[in-house]
Amino acid sequence: MGGPALSQRRHLVTEIPGPVSRDLLERRQRSVARGLSHVLPVFVTAAGGGVLIDADGNSLIDFSSGIAVTSVGNSADLVVSRVSEQVARFTHTCFMVVPYEGYVEVCEELNRITPGSHEKRSALVNSGAEAVENAVKIARHATGRQAVVVFDHAYHGRTNLTMAMTAKNMPYKDGFGPFAGEVYRVPMAYPFRWPGGPAKCADEALDVACGLIHAQVGENRVAAIVIEPIQGEGGFIVPPPGFLPGLADYCREHGIIFIADEIQSGFCRTGDWFACDHEQVVPDLVTTAKGIAGGLPLAGVTGRAEIMDSVHAGGLGGTFGGNPVACAAALGAIETMTKEDLPAAARRIGEVMLPRLRKLAERHPVIGDIRGRGAMIAIEMVKPGTIEPDAATTSKVAKACHAAGLIVLTCGTYGNVVRFLPPLVISPDLLNEGLDVLEEAFSQI
Ligand SMILES: Cc1ncc(COP(=O)(O)O)c(C=O)c1O
Repeated sequence: MGGPALSQRRHLVTEIPGPVSRDLLERRQRSVARGLSHVLPVFVTAAGGGVLIDADGNSLIDFSSGIAVTSVGNSADLVVSRVSEQVARFTHTCFMVVPYEGYVEVCEELNRITPGSHEKRSALVNSGAEAVENAVKIARHATGRQAVVVFDHAYHGRTNLTMAMTAKNMPYKDGFGPFAGEVYRVPMAYPFRWPGGPAKCADEALDVACGLIHAQVGENRVAAIVIEPIQGEGGFIVPPPGFLPGLADYCREHGIIFIADEIQSGFCRTGDWFACDHEQVVPDLVTTAKGIAGGLPLAGVTGRAEIMDSVHAGGLGGTFGGNPVACAAALGAIETMTKEDLPAAARRIGEVMLPRLRKLAERHPVIGDIRGRGAMIAIEMVKPGTIEPDAATTSKVAKACHAAGLIVLTCGTYGNVVRFLPPLVISPDLLNEGLDVLEEAFSQI
């Protein structure tokens, strides 16, 4: 059995991966397509709180949450009870055929917790990419315009439109074109790498973005600007204060729909319910997924009622979108986040991690930048004394962590960022033990 009752400790009984996982990996190689890769090929049998148990009986510390999904922990009590009850009642009708209350309740919750107190509507789908696709469809329909503006280092998914919106070629786009048209890219406000330095980054990046839109696209052709308020796969890039509010103002001035892709940064991860809340930015549309349902597949688009309702009946939907079991899970996850005050838990995680990472950086000049908010924290690795990315050392650190039973992820356009996304329910002891493992990994490189 998994869930929060699992013993919250790191305990290795074999090398990583162990013999049972290696056997399973061989079977996997004969049956599963090569295009799907693994960060760490240990096969999981149970998980809960901040640990994963593998098929060899190893207990590993989880600093990934399945890429920012199991924020409430794996098999969280309220998710398990609500899902079990729903599964026993009915598993599917298709909301477009016969509706059910759980879907409506999730939309009510999304309308309540996303930024802004204006009247909202929501639509539920299956994945983050599908949420982004739908947000763009809605924005185009509402404005009668076609162009979509995105940013350097952006990640929005793996479908045709969202590949076009994603910045990084390898592994996401290479050989998969041609891509959807009318997608335009502008530089991201990336303080660590901004040519004029971090102090000028917000103003200059805003000027560059608006200047390019004006010169190369035309404001009157832009349906939407889509931005991750803290970029995820691109390297946990936190735009400097003022950039997001400035962008929101610019959108308002030109009738452009401001879409915040909160798929990775949402649901308490950054210490607020949504990353936009930090600067009181109110997007027109918000896309959500990942942390929304404690691990079950669900995603949403939430936004201003008049924009969402501009689409004709039947224009949105899909067979599985807003599946009743996934909705039950979401209601359990949101209740957990509220009852356990997980925004505060995320802030506490940041307060433990950041000082320890700063001390680590003093000893290891390969750490060029430490950034993030709440429990969405990363270190960017460079050749000491430069900003030249050091992907090789990044990979060595991640591998050393994995071998010692700590699951960390890398990211970044240049593959030189180690990111930390622990479940928000992780215990302080386990969090500190994970950081001990990280420090030990650095001492080995
Ligand atoms: C910001 C952002 N948008 C969209 C997506 C795509 O979500 P999914 O993998 O559920 O399609 C992701 C996934 O990592 C993401 O981080």
